[in-house]
Amino acid sequence: MQVIETVSRLQSLADTERASGRRIALVPTMGALHPGHLALVEAARERADRVWVSIFVNPTQFNDPADLDGYPRQLEADLDRCRECGVDVAFCPSVEEMYPAGSVTTVQVGELGESLCGASRPGHFDGVTTIVTKLLLASRPHVAVFGEKDYQQLAVIRAMARDLDFGVEIVGVATVREADGVALSSRNVRLTPEARSQARALVRALDAAESAVGAGEGDTRRILKMVSDEIAKAPLARVDYAEMRDPHSLKPSPPELAGAALLALAVFFPASDSDSTGGESVRLIDNRVLVPSGSSTQQEP
Ligand code: PAJ
Repeated sequence: MQVIETVSRLQSLADTERASGRRIALVPTMGALHPGHLALVEAARERADRVWVSIFVNPTQFNDPADLDGYPRQLEADLDRCRECGVDVAFCPSVEEMYPAGSVTTVQVGELGESLCGASRPGHFDGVTTIVTKLLLASRPHVAVFGEKDYQQLAVIRAMARDLDFGVEIVGVATVREADGVALSSRNVRLTPEARSQARALVRALDAAESAVGAGEGDTRRILKMVSDEIAKAPLARVDYAEMRDPHSLKPSPPELAGAALLALAVFFPASDSDSTGGESVRLIDNRVLVPSGSSTQQEP
């Protein structure tokens, strides 16, 4: 596995691979790799001759400096995992490499990035779209792979790639979960043990809503009430948002569901005392596309 730290080296390798007719798949990450990331690597391998992983904790997508400081960093362990998984290139640039002094350009997707996580974390998606654009221009892949766990992020990146004619196929991969159903996240390790056990409230709420919609419930308000009742059973949980949205436009669902709807959740839980940020809270997200019986199941952001 090659470890590459500069954009220029990555671009020239991309040129060589492309000239030899090989397909490149990029998996962008911020490191602290877990089996969720590795599922993206597997999906990448099925679609390309070369699998490249980027590992870069992108400062411009953090609106909270404590969150950026507390983000887990474990580059050597991540590189070992990449080697074990047969990754061909790990791209690990420095902050200065990706944002040299004098950088002024950003990429924005307007309203799509302003609701849900964009409302709770102003500027977050401008940071995501800008770094993903830079990573794609640095690696010139044929395919780029992202997780459905970050549903809005995937929707934003699909829109950006379509609108700006990136010529990169954007692939979404289903959320990988722990044995108890909690979505794998680099943030889970920052939870107190009690908070970790109560984090199951998110997936319980998604399950409850899915069963209700499957049984014919179409009233958005009642579905959301069921969701908040389920989360309220976890006393440590503090809801950031619980919303139902159109799975493509991310606009609010109508009062009575007319088709599939995205149920998106973001919930704060207490961080462990050993956390370097001094016990801030940890924000977990999860989502599910709810499909009323009789509507099409073809849903992707
Ligand atoms: P990061 O949080 O490291 O996630 C990297 C990729 O892994 C994202 O596409 C994310 O959706 C996916 N992922 C995370 N947990 C997952 C799980 N449990 N199951 C499946 N996929 C999962 O998302 C980012 O980094 C950054 O915003 C990035 C796109 C790299 C831009 O900086």
